[in-house]
Amino acid sequence: MTKFSVFVGVALLGSICWCANAWPANTKTTAKSASSTTVAPTPAPGTQNSFNLTFVLAAKDLPAKKKNSLPDPYIKVFHRIGTTQTADWTPIGAGQTDTLDDNASPQFNNVFWFVWNKGTGQQWHFEAKSHNTIGKDDALGQVDVNVDDYVLKNNQDLTVKFSDGGSLIIKKTTPVRISLYARNLPKMDTFGGASDPFVECYWRVGREGNDTLFYTTAKQDDKENADWPDIIEFSNYQKGTDQYWHFKVLDHDSTSGNDILGDTVFEIDPFVTKRAAKVNRLQSENKDNKGTLTVTPA
Ligand SMILES: *[C@@H]1O[C@H](CO)[C@@H](O)[C@H](O)[C@H]1NC(C)=O
Ligand SMILES: *[C@@H]1O[C@H](CO)[C@@H](O)[C@H](O)[C@H]1NC(C)=O
Repeated sequence: MTKFSVFVGVALLGSICWCANAWPANTKTTAKSASSTTVAPTPAPGTQNSFNLTFVLAAKDLPAKKKNSLPDPYIKVFHRIGTTQTADWTPIGAGQTDTLDDNASPQFNNVFWFVWNKGTGQQWHFEAKSHNTIGKDDALGQVDVNVDDYVLKNNQDLTVKFSDGGSLIIKKTTPVRISLYARNLPKMDTFGGASDPFVECYWRVGREGNDTLFYTTAKQDDKENADWPDIIEFSNYQKGTDQYWHFKVLDHDSTSGNDILGDTVFEIDPFVTKRAAKVNRLQSENKDNKGTLTVTPA
């Protein structure tokens, strides 16, 4: 390999790095050691040319199969090696997205992961369908993508045309791992005992956006201060897309229902950039709430 191609290779690998912090601090790396130190979100074990790609799907302007009605779309996701007719398509993960209602330009929340082996001819195949309650689902179009092209040419944000109109958008995500602890939680127990706290973790687009739940911790019995052992993964992180986290701390109460101890909403980008523990004052109707929830990178 020439110095130049090593440089280009490293630059491309850098572009799929989950964030700048994942680069080695040593900037004086020689070309030789740089090419043997592959840096990736999560290098798959064994080979240097394997990378774990994570992505979500969206579509734009899907065709309508019925007059005056929008599709109820979902997308099926497959892969294979090479373009030969005999190779079978294998589903990726669950093999398809959720189904959304009445939406020609859906954004799906399902995160897919795929181990990319550079230069081995991996292909993806996507089929858009519209769900029908009675009868077969309608085919809305399909498209194949060469995975090398997706990674190397497009920096993992790719829009391609479906066969029957409309387009598919593949968007890279970079999983973020966190853990949680709470301090000074208010006592909600009728008999003055400490709460049995647990946390519901949601994300949304925009501060006022709609919540999507991505994790619920177990409850901790009788704790004013709680440390959850969980390593929580938010796999849908997309830098620069105005994503927020919403953490709701609740008191588990099997008789009268769960009470809210407080909640907090904050933007994810600055947290990921700083990679430092963030202490959040819990908001609730109780103005004297001294409770905090700390989110730490894990
Ligand atoms: C790839 O990343 C996803 C999301 O973080 C993870 O669930 C999966 O186990 C990883 N796969 C491999 C082979 O590392
Ligand atoms: C939140 O959901 C409601 C009901 O589905 C919808 O009308 C509204 O536009 C959504 N808001 C945002 C910011 O996406």
